[in-house]
Amino acid sequence: MYWNLDKVIVAQNEALPIDWKKVFRHERMLVEIGFGNGEFLEFLAKNDPEALVVGIEVSQLCAAKGARRAMYAGLENVRIMHGDARFLLRHCFAPQSADRVYMNFPCPWPKTRHAQRRVTVPSFCGLMERLIAPGGAFELATDVEWYAREAAESFDAAPSFKIETLEKNPLRPYLTKYERKWKAMGKDTWRLVARREGPAFKESECEGDWPMEYEADAKKSAAELAGALKGREGRAADGSGHWVFRDAFVSDDGAALLLVITADEGFEQHFYIKLLESPRGITVKVDSVGHPFRTPSMRAALMAALDAAK
Ligand SMILES: C[S@@+](CC[C@H](N)C(=O)[O-])C[C@H]1O[C@@H](n2cnc3c(N)ncnc32)[C@H](O)[C@@H]1O
Repeated sequence: MYWNLDKVIVAQNEALPIDWKKVFRHERMLVEIGFGNGEFLEFLAKNDPEALVVGIEVSQLCAAKGARRAMYAGLENVRIMHGDARFLLRHCFAPQSADRVYMNFPCPWPKTRHAQRRVTVPSFCGLMERLIAPGGAFELATDVEWYAREAAESFDAAPSFKIETLEKNPLRPYLTKYERKWKAMGKDTWRLVARREGPAFKESECEGDWPMEYEADAKKSAAELAGALKGREGRAADGSGHWVFRDAFVSDDGAALLLVITADEGFEQHFYIKLLESPRGITVKVDSVGHPFRTPSMRAALMAALDAAK
């Protein structure tokens, strides 16, 4: 079957963040985080053909399944994104652009070391505050009572949200795969709806759009610098993330590449930092191939390379 991919994939050179409703000319935008097999996405898209429905999945297999489902159902108003929703939502979506964000049966991450991945952390409320337009809502369905209650407490503490619903065993218009599974096992489920109230989000509250390239008056060559940096590691400025210079490569013309691995709240990236000799000294820049996201750990790694060059 032929499928026009332009309908699902956003052009690579589209400026970020994307104003989805404007680009795809829809009145409303609904977002589903972690859509699994994509059946709820299909339900939303059929139920509200005027809305653009954007699904985000970290699993490549599920992303492919969702895309195939949208294709076979002939849905024109579905877009699929593959990646970690916490980063894609922050970097690829214009502020105040979503009307409703759904999260159905996320993993509750019960272990303490994974707690940062829960939707109950304050940074998630901040992300939703940026993304959802006043009047819109965040909706969570879960089979874990403490998770629903923690999420409710977290949204309740955010001045821009008001808890509208926290109900046990809700009657939902569509039961997802996991919901059917838990129901078949006789488990209770919970539904939380947090309404986004004013004030409107101010762009200045966004994460900084800091440069990915710097120049330093270096005394070392790029090759010496790369050798000195290889194996070094550290944490992000706020102590949350971790970075390591895993390997270093030097070309015949003296340019060097550092292979960097970063992890921010469980979000891992592999990318290169280039060390290029320039008339002034050394240019230290994040290689844009692979389009890595600006994260606190990337910034810390870049600053460590820059400091070492000085
Ligand atoms: C338990 S399944 C639920 C699937 C579906 N929503 C349902 O109710 O049947 C959780 C889904 O969330 C996805 N997921 C987990 N963390 C994610 C993240 N940070 N960004 C996007 N998707 C994520 C997983 O890959 C998985 O498909």
